[in-house]
Amino acid sequence: MTSKSDSLTITDNRTGTSYEVPISEETIRATDLRQIKTSDEEFGLMTYDPAYMNTASCRSAVTYLDGDNGVLRYRGYPIEQLADKSSFLEVALLLLDGELPSKAALEAWEKDVVAAMPVPDHIEKFIEAFPRDAHPMAMLLAAIAALGANHPEAVDLTDDAVQRTQIINIIGKIATLGAYLYRHSKGLPFVKPDTSKGYSENFLTMLYQDDKGSYTPDPHLVHALDVLLILHADHEQNCSTSAVRSVGSSQVDVYSAVAAGIAALYGPLHGGANEAVLKMLRRIEGGQSAEEFMNGVKEGKERLMGFGHRVYKNYDPRARIIKKACDEVFAVTGVNPLLDLATKLEETALADDYFVQRKLYPNVDFYSGLIYEALGLPAEMFTVMFAIGRAPGWLAQWYEMIHDKEQKISRPRQIFIGSDERDYVEMDAR
Ligand code: SDX
Repeated sequence: MTSKSDSLTITDNRTGTSYEVPISEETIRATDLRQIKTSDEEFGLMTYDPAYMNTASCRSAVTYLDGDNGVLRYRGYPIEQLADKSSFLEVALLLLDGELPSKAALEAWEKDVVAAMPVPDHIEKFIEAFPRDAHPMAMLLAAIAALGANHPEAVDLTDDAVQRTQIINIIGKIATLGAYLYRHSKGLPFVKPDTSKGYSENFLTMLYQDDKGSYTPDPHLVHALDVLLILHADHEQNCSTSAVRSVGSSQVDVYSAVAAGIAALYGPLHGGANEAVLKMLRRIEGGQSAEEFMNGVKEGKERLMGFGHRVYKNYDPRARIIKKACDEVFAVTGVNPLLDLATKLEETALADDYFVQRKLYPNVDFYSGLIYEALGLPAEMFTVMFAIGRAPGWLAQWYEMIHDKEQKISRPRQIFIGSDERDYVEMDAR
């Protein structure tokens, strides 16, 4: 009886040669396949995995997902417990440092992040230079890169103290930038952060304070916003986090790496889905019948935005929590009339073979927009909210990557399908 070893035995039927490839942590190393060739001149075998459907790009301790069972944990703590008991800034520190902070450490962190919320005057002018109807995600993308231009010291990735300052700077300022983009789009003066207030309370105040300075956000709305930010804080190697890691692997500064994450998140298949869900619901509410819409989805004409997930083949645990947060917000703002339509679409989909067979369930984006809209935000701002929440996750993953001895500049290979060598043809001979 041969001993069972953690390895694959691969026989190349082209040569009859067998190879022993070790299995470690449920993976094989793609580079172990390079030895498989029919002659020494060959490059050797590669794996081909468009969109990385089955490729681990890194080893990470930050977030754990179990897509089949709808499990999400930040540093081992279940998302349900963090949403119920923690705060966004505590979760941000947990993601970055890996442990729940002491009371003193959390208070110091909160003070540092809120103190970093003000943005320099030239960034305010930068935002004012955009047309009022510019999409806030395009402005956020540019503003974060502009912020980086203000911190040439950020290029020194070896100095942890310098990088911690940049991390605090980005978490603090991205919320202020988000509020300023909203105010700019409405032609309203900026409301500067008040360092005596908490992070989420500051954000709502910077959004909605009127020129008499009189605005106190309802504590239920502050809490609901904090929960939403917690739910968006990290999600292992999603598209935008992979962009942050890949761009960051060139050893560019962290602002540029985060700007790459914002660009990826902007897409409607990723963070832009929450905005797309609201527009989809509005379209159906405006006249297209839900049944006609769902038939169009099943015919492949369009997607039920806010449904489906690369990893979750079960209910996204965040969607469940957001649905509960709806109750807290709507108790203050009144129920968003689109809630019934969204619930009806969910019930229809969960009972329909097309969705059941493809394991399509509501994801984090399906209900979040209903809350953002109830908080008074326009659909174009929804993905900015996602970016504010995701900033600590991007930063924790980036920091892990620059300290990972196995990582180097990210540079995939390709399968070349283009022309063989050919000679240039002069214009008169074409
Ligand atoms: C986020 O990765 C993350 O972790 C992301 C995220 C995070 O926190 O970072 O969770 C945040 O981005 C959530 C997802 C938000 N996007 C959407 O809601 C957009 C709508 N959903 C999809 O486009 C899609 O489900 C994705 C992009 C989310 C996942 O796409 P996959 O894994 O590439 O799946 P696929 O496109 O290969 O679809 C598989 C099948 C296809 O049908 P068949 O070709 O097999 O017949 O399912 C169908 C798809 O047509 N399908 C859908 C659908 N999503 C997939 N059909 C209708 N509506 C949908 N929403």
